[in-house]
Amino acid sequence: MSVEANAPAAVIVLAAGAGTRMKSAKPKILHEIGGKSMVGHAIAAARGIDPERLVAVVRHERDRVVEHLLQIEPDLTIADQDDVPGTGRAVQQGLEALPEDIEGTIVVTYGDVPLLTGEQLGELVAAHDADANAVTVLTARLGDPTGYGRIVRDDDGSVAGIVEHKDATDAQRGIDEVNSGIYAFDAAVLRSALAQVTTDNAQGEMYLTDVLSIARGDGGRVAAVVTGDPWQVEGANDRVQLAALGKEMNRRTCEKWMRSGVTIVDPDSTWIDVDVALSSDVTLKPGTQLHGSTAVGTDAVIGPDTTLTNVQVGQGATVKRSDATDSTIGQGASVGPFAYLRPKTDLGESGKIGAFYETKNAKIGKGSKLSHLGYSGDSVIGEYTNIGCGNITANYDGEKKHQTVIGSHVRTASNTVFVAPVSVGDGAYTGAGAIVRKDVPAGALALSVAPQRNSEGWTQAKRPGSESAAAAGAAPGAPVADNS
Ligand code: UD1
Ligand code: MG
Repeated sequence: MSVEANAPAAVIVLAAGAGTRMKSAKPKILHEIGGKSMVGHAIAAARGIDPERLVAVVRHERDRVVEHLLQIEPDLTIADQDDVPGTGRAVQQGLEALPEDIEGTIVVTYGDVPLLTGEQLGELVAAHDADANAVTVLTARLGDPTGYGRIVRDDDGSVAGIVEHKDATDAQRGIDEVNSGIYAFDAAVLRSALAQVTTDNAQGEMYLTDVLSIARGDGGRVAAVVTGDPWQVEGANDRVQLAALGKEMNRRTCEKWMRSGVTIVDPDSTWIDVDVALSSDVTLKPGTQLHGSTAVGTDAVIGPDTTLTNVQVGQGATVKRSDATDSTIGQGASVGPFAYLRPKTDLGESGKIGAFYETKNAKIGKGSKLSHLGYSGDSVIGEYTNIGCGNITANYDGEKKHQTVIGSHVRTASNTVFVAPVSVGDGAYTGAGAIVRKDVPAGALALSVAPQRNSEGWTQAKRPGSESAAAAGAAPGAPVADNS
């Protein structure tokens, strides 16, 4: 559901926590699902409600986190949290990084809640605005609410406050409505309530949750929006939860594409990053993984067992049991089975990179084919050229890489080796096993292999008594071995 909401004055993303349960040298919020860091998803959801300002509060692994954040969001305001612990302190320091007189709605989210969407935030802000609330908290009803802050409601159903699990009575622990940690606040209420928050609780932290009861005590209206989709408020604290969230995100991504006209034969074995773009009538076969900025044109068939990372696939192309990165596959082209396209492969319209071919920095023109068993690197190939089986560009002299340039309508025979730098003109041919060290003019046939010499009777003379010698002796017209 999408709800029109007023753009909030700011979103503050809390990202200062350590995330020790990940047991990782990498900060928790930099762990990825769906091709993006968790905090990257948080920033994308925040961007979805178009805030005037976006703030991230950091502390743990500060420099590494900030570098990542500024890469994805150069306009981000960074707020450093000091050594006073707690979500309340984090938000207070986020506020300090904003103009002192900021007014309107301040939204708070977490850097480790990756399935939250801009639409869900929009609904929260819309409800907050519609009722002119002081605070609106996003909540969920969970089968197992252990560990979460519980939403305490009055007899009339209104939100009285939030009690943390560690501070809760047994009766309060029985409440199944939990605090997601995602809120919309009136800026002035937030500022004045935070000034009254103490660290007098079980964890000795400044609890942001205390703002609700303080605001209510000051006469403000405090309300909750209960999400019907608890995945949206679920955080990842360890790698088991990370995998579960990643799987659910992928399920949602696959469903979205199927609903918009993509055939996914087996969504359980198909992985699609959130920034991938697919056209209608694309078919994805089992075992397909599409990563990064990969985009696939209409009627293309990908898979089975194919991984594409930042690859542009043209309309009607097929890619089967192959791996490609940072490459382009033209309209109607065919790749695989078992092809390996390394960065900067540019396969032209109706071209082919066939079985057991590896390419790298290779520009292959329209209709040209590299069908079987070879390597093409640092190469430029014209149109409608046929590269024979087992051809290799020897592009590396041990120190530098060199280019091979092959024209259009060229026919190269099996096992041709191009010793770069070298060029082959339009319409040229090579002979089987040619080692092309010198440029080949247009229309020439390049032969480099020494003439063949047959040493008659060699096997029987040199391998007497062997099965080969016996076979040779039995062959029609075979010379009689001289074993005397
Ligand atoms: C918090 C809530 C709890 C809620 C739960 C939802 C409080 C007091 N409690 O609990 O009601 O059910 O989230 O997941 O707010 N962070 C900082 N600085 C800090 C502490 C935390 O930036 O000093 C950030 C963390 O990086 C994280 C988020 O705030 O993104 C939540 O921190 P966490 O420690 O997980 O909060 P909980 O105690 O689980
Ligand atoms: Mg938590």
